[in-house]
This record gives sequence, structure tokens and C-alpha cells, in this order.
Amino acid sequence: MDYSKFVSEGVKSLKPSGIRKYFENAEGVISLGVGEPDFATPKAISDAAVQSIFNEETYYTSNWGLESLREAINEYLNKRFNLFYNPENEILVTTGTSEALDLALRTLVNPGDDVLIPKPSYVAYEPEVILAGGKPVLVNLTAENKFKLRKEDILNHLTDKTKVLLMPYPMNPTGAIMTKEEMMEISEVVKEHDLFVISDELYGELTYNGKKHASFASLPNMRERTLVINGVSKAFAMTGWRLGYVCGPSEVMTQLVKIHQFTMLCAPIMAQVAAEHALRFGVPAMEEMVKIYDKRRRFIVDRFNEIGLTCFEPEGAFYAFPSVESTGLDGEQFADRLLAEEEVAVVPGIAFGENGKYFLRICYAYSIEEIEEALVRIERFVKKLQEQL
Ligand SMILES: Cc1ncc(COP(=O)(O)O)c(C=O)c1O
Repeated sequence: MDYSKFVSEGVKSLKPSGIRKYFENAEGVISLGVGEPDFATPKAISDAAVQSIFNEETYYTSNWGLESLREAINEYLNKRFNLFYNPENEILVTTGTSEALDLALRTLVNPGDDVLIPKPSYVAYEPEVILAGGKPVLVNLTAENKFKLRKEDILNHLTDKTKVLLMPYPMNPTGAIMTKEEMMEISEVVKEHDLFVISDELYGELTYNGKKHASFASLPNMRERTLVINGVSKAFAMTGWRLGYVCGPSEVMTQLVKIHQFTMLCAPIMAQVAAEHALRFGVPAMEEMVKIYDKRRRFIVDRFNEIGLTCFEPEGAFYAFPSVESTGLDGEQFADRLLAEEEVAVVPGIAFGENGKYFLRICYAYSIEEIEEALVRIERFVKKLQEQL
């Protein structure tokens, strides 16, 4: 049977994510590969959801999500990021930030529209733009500029088809952040060239060195042209609950909700109850986790530089992005051999963009014991490579 004639050309054109083989769980293998918290969801949050099941709260909610959760999202965003959204028609609860991203793109993009995607960045951006019918326009960032997006990067890629800019800060895979002042420059180009922004702020709570995340929508004149996507996965150690949200001007949101209505209906009610608890009461537990990530971050960056793999200081998310260029290998060769010879799983930077070719993405949401042992092995491997050079 010729299945290929049944499968759509759009889906066939997508490259499968090349990073699964590095998510190794085999015995003896230490993985710094998977980008999710090593903590379980704080117990009080899980308890709230369990209690709601015992209370027989097992039904559909409004398409928009539980009203009390939307109110909690507004209060939380207001307190933490100085944002204000009307729970009635400006906040939609989704199944993970993943769905929020998909809805945002499908709502904004017409066939052939250009969507600017800074690279390296999260693996789903490019395929999602293609699935939405848009054209991904990749904007390469550099380690020299600390992987920050600059005004000229946008100007160099503008065409008369450019409609949407994806803002990926704090960033997976580099750990880069942008300050409010740096983002203000971007906002000027956005306004001048009449662009719309999808700001993925999933790692907004995970920033270090006292640098608080500034939401793109909180910049002057940007609320009206931004969809903020966010969720509880990373900050509250809730990846498996699949709960996110998207916020934006009601004119766009009342269109966007239609896709959700017909495809997802609503996010699972138990996860919504858990998320409400997290946003209302979970901040202290989240801040404890962030303190622990920060200790690991400082340790890991120092060790990489000591080993001779130059690592720029990530100030957000829970990733480090060291360069392996000095070893004579590219990231993929390095990661393959490291897994085979030292049983350490890391992800080659190229999985996040061509310009990540000589880098590795290291997730430090692992126990300090695992990180220490992984670095002993990486050091041994680099020494071996140096002897062979
Ligand atoms: C930058 C970024 N955005 C979105 C997602 C999807 O997150 P969620 O679990 O909320 O769907 C991820 C997951 O790794 C991510 O790294």
C-alpha cells in the first residue's frame, strides 16, 4: 500500500526531531539531555488536584478554562510581570504552552506570511510555523552577542511578507535572556514595521543574578500587538500536567479561542485545578527550586570553562550551551562519542538550529551528584580528545 499518497505534503516535509536518541535512560548512562525539572510537582499542588477528583470535578470546563483559574492567571501575571488581562476574553487556558504556541501561530498566520524565528531556539517553532502555513525566516544569533536579538537582526530579514516575530526569552537552548532596555529596541522595530509578536515566556520565572524577566507585553505599546504564551510546566515542575495559557488583546483572542474550541474543547479540569493552586500558592516552592537551579548553574558553567569548553554565562532557563569547537569535533560528533565512550547523554546544539552546530545543550535540572559525575566523565573525554589532537 502506498501510504505516502495519503499523508499530507506538509507533514511529510517536517523533519523528525533528532534529539530523542540523546534522551537515554539505559543503565549507567547519565543524562543531561531532557529539558524538564528533576523535582516532582510540589505536593500541595498535586493534593489540590486529587481532592478535586474526589469532589467529582471531572467534567468539561468552559472553552476558555475555569473562571477562577483565569482570575488566578491575571493576578499572578500582574504581580510577577506587571501584565493585566481581562479573564473574560483575554486569557485562554491551553493544554501546555505547546498548544498555546500552535493556536497563536494558526490564528495570526496566512499562507506565505513570514515568521521571524531567532535561532538557535526551541525545536517546535519552525515545524509549527510550517504547519500553520507560514514561512519560517531564521534569524541567526551569536554567542558573541550572548544570543540576544538585536534590532539589525530583524531589519536584515524584513520583507513585505513579514508579519510575526517569535520572541523566545528566556531561551531554550542557550539560557540567554534579554533585559527590558534591550527588548525596548526590538519593540521600536516591531511598532515601526507593524509586526505582531508571540512571546514565549515559559521560562520567565527562571532567571538568575537578580535579573527579573521583563515580559514583552509590558513594554510601552506592545500589549496591543503581543500574544504572551506561558504555562506551569517548568517553573512549577508540572510538565506532565499539560497546562499552559495564552493572553492577548480580546480582538485576537476571540478568534483564537475558536480553534481551541473545535480541536481541544478545554484543558483537563484536574490540571486546571492544580495550576490554579500553583499560581495562587506555589510561588515560594517555585522560588526554592530556582535557588537550587542557580547553584547548579554556577557550578556547571565554572566546570565547563575549567575543562576548556567555553561556556557563556546563561542567566535564564535551566540550560548551559558550551562550545566544543576547540576539541576538533562538532556538537553531534561530540555528543555521539560522549554517549558511546563515557555514557553521558547531552543534546547537540544543531538540534536547535544550524548555528548551534559547534555547541551542546546541557540541561542542569538534574541532581548535583549526577551533574558532578557527568562533568568528571566529560573532562576525561575532552582530555582524551586533546591527546589525540
Ligand atoms: C521554549 C519552550 N516553549 C514551550 C515548550 C512547551 O512547553 P509545555 O510543556 O508547556 O507544552 C517548551 C518545552 O520544552 C519550551 O522549551
